[in-house]
Amino acid sequence: MSKTLIGPVSQILPMDNMSLNGPLKDSHLSIIKNGAILIENGHILTLGSYEDLKNENAKKIFIEQPTVALPGFIDAHTHICFAGNRAQDFAKRIEGKSYLEIQREGGGILHTVKETRYATQEELTNSLLLRLDQELLQGVTTVEIKSGYGLNVSEELKILKAIQRASNEHYITCIPTCLAAHLLPADFTNTKEYLAFLLKELLPIVSKKKLAKRVDIFIEQGAFSATESFSYLKAAKNMGFEITVHADQFHVGGSIVAAQVKACSADHLEATTELEMAQLLQAEVVPVILPGASLGLGIPFAPARKLLDFGLPLAIASDWNPGTAPMGKLLTQAALLATYEKLSAAEIFAGLTYRAAKALRLVDRGILAPSLRADIVFFPTADYRQILYYQGALLPWKSMIKGEFCCVNIC
Ligand code: NIG
Ligand code: FE
Repeated sequence: MSKTLIGPVSQILPMDNMSLNGPLKDSHLSIIKNGAILIENGHILTLGSYEDLKNENAKKIFIEQPTVALPGFIDAHTHICFAGNRAQDFAKRIEGKSYLEIQREGGGILHTVKETRYATQEELTNSLLLRLDQELLQGVTTVEIKSGYGLNVSEELKILKAIQRASNEHYITCIPTCLAAHLLPADFTNTKEYLAFLLKELLPIVSKKKLAKRVDIFIEQGAFSATESFSYLKAAKNMGFEITVHADQFHVGGSIVAAQVKACSADHLEATTELEMAQLLQAEVVPVILPGASLGLGIPFAPARKLLDFGLPLAIASDWNPGTAPMGKLLTQAALLATYEKLSAAEIFAGLTYRAAKALRLVDRGILAPSLRADIVFFPTADYRQILYYQGALLPWKSMIKGEFCCVNIC
């Protein structure tokens, strides 16, 4: 297949040769000024200065406007396959009601389960496709999507199939995760029995039908305990699943389990202290923090600055869901996190690219380098610092996935 050369690009930030763990300064960013990217078969062949590459025998895509190129963003934690909305929860929250109070009054996750069970697989796919368009508008090229609004065998499978279908139909690559252990459904009275049921009746089908390679659980008071979650995750891991955990959102406990089972990531971490950080570091679990959930719930952000200073990597994801994080604007959320937690642009971009890829164990993206996927986001500016400065108001003018330009703002 023929080669394509894209350039000149005012600044290319390949995000390569940067540390997986710990703090980063903008001086750690390698920036190719007046650069170009040579692509073949959906992958990067090489990148370098436009002057050096401009005579390559390739189809030329000449860029006339000031442009910054980065690896496409990876949203490593979402719940965007759902029906309905939870405006009624929002109204209660701003009256001062707590997460648990709202749940007890019939709101929360179980309300979305009801609405999602009513929806057909096709309806779920269609609404998911629209949300994927929104992700693409913000420069996201890979999205992790959890089930978890079905909470029985047929409904969880319906959601996972809707995700699979949307992934086939959209430019964006979807990474499905089975979160059937999101909350105890009304059909069960005992959490241990429900988890045993999932291990016996659901996960073997998910694995056999290749609907997800990852398993998640919500470890929290009112959801699943640390002890029962440990057994569930161990068993899921033995079945061949990769593990991720909703951990320490309101109370600690989840990230210790994530460390014990050597999960790929521990997500949320709003309540995490140094004790948990030490365990995560030792077990090489990637923390994924979710500023959108803090904005939705009106609670402090996870201690991003501390996690980095402790020597951990830090991925940033949107947690887009109908309840606690309805906004779904990853770039805006990351920019706000930078302001409040004093994170450098290098730390934010690392959290949206190669550190997010690590959380999902994706080795073919997150960095612009030879042989990796040509997933690239192009912003209309000559100065990368403007991207976070505009807090998500400066949108990419184009995104490319596997070497193909996607229709976003301008086709
Ligand atoms: O990550 N904490 C648990 N699950 C989601 C919320 C899902 C929902 O409220 O619908 C979260 O915040
Ligand atoms: Fe979540």
